[in-house]
Amino acid sequence: MAGGVSRRIFLKSLGTSAVTAAALGADTVSQGLAQANAERAQGPGAVAVAFTVNGEKRTLMVEPRVTLLEALRGNLGLTGAKEACDRATCGACTVLLNDTPVYACSMLAIEAQGAAITTIEGLARDGKLTALQQAMVEQDGLQCGFCSPGMVMVLTALLRKNPHPTEAEVRRAIAGNLCRCGSYPRIVAATLAASGQKPVTQLNVISLHDHALA
Ligand code: FES
Ligand code: FES
Repeated sequence: MAGGVSRRIFLKSLGTSAVTAAALGADTVSQGLAQANAERAQGPGAVAVAFTVNGEKRTLMVEPRVTLLEALRGNLGLTGAKEACDRATCGACTVLLNDTPVYACSMLAIEAQGAAITTIEGLARDGKLTALQQAMVEQDGLQCGFCSPGMVMVLTALLRKNPHPTEAEVRRAIAGNLCRCGSYPRIVAATLAASGQKPVTQLNVISLHDHALA
């Protein structure tokens, strides 16, 4: 195990005498055991995974091969995060892990051990949309049901970290959420509106299209 020490090797090196443990100090011993436990091979059977999801503590028994996305959707019934590409390309599966957006299709549930996870289901409170969700509705910043949740999650993370992003920062934030049929300009506009700003760039393509239809 790379750069580490197995539990067996750690215990052997420690010896069995309390004197040795006392000499090393309780902290050193418990740190060594924690490290050895963390490095212990898991599975192939189900193992316990505990994390917080949308503010609620959840403990699951899942095989180590189960992705975080599968655990959220299959075990917890939280189907807001979508499986689209399943290979870290499209962003449809984006959830927040300790406030950082991650592709849930591309990490294992056991890697999220102890983390605080937020899914799209955890944003609205008592039926009240967040400012970003409301702005998405008002500015028509919609994509399909597969793409929208990931977009909202990644932009929620952006606004939490940076409440007044520039247009360029908004565009950079959604660079990992890919689709060729959505309304990116309106999503950018909605994000700026949610942060109390107006977009600098006009929605030229959409305006021309709107005029053509008029
Ligand atoms: S489903 Fe995870 S990035 Fe596409
Ligand atoms: S596939 Fe979802 S908006 Fe294009």
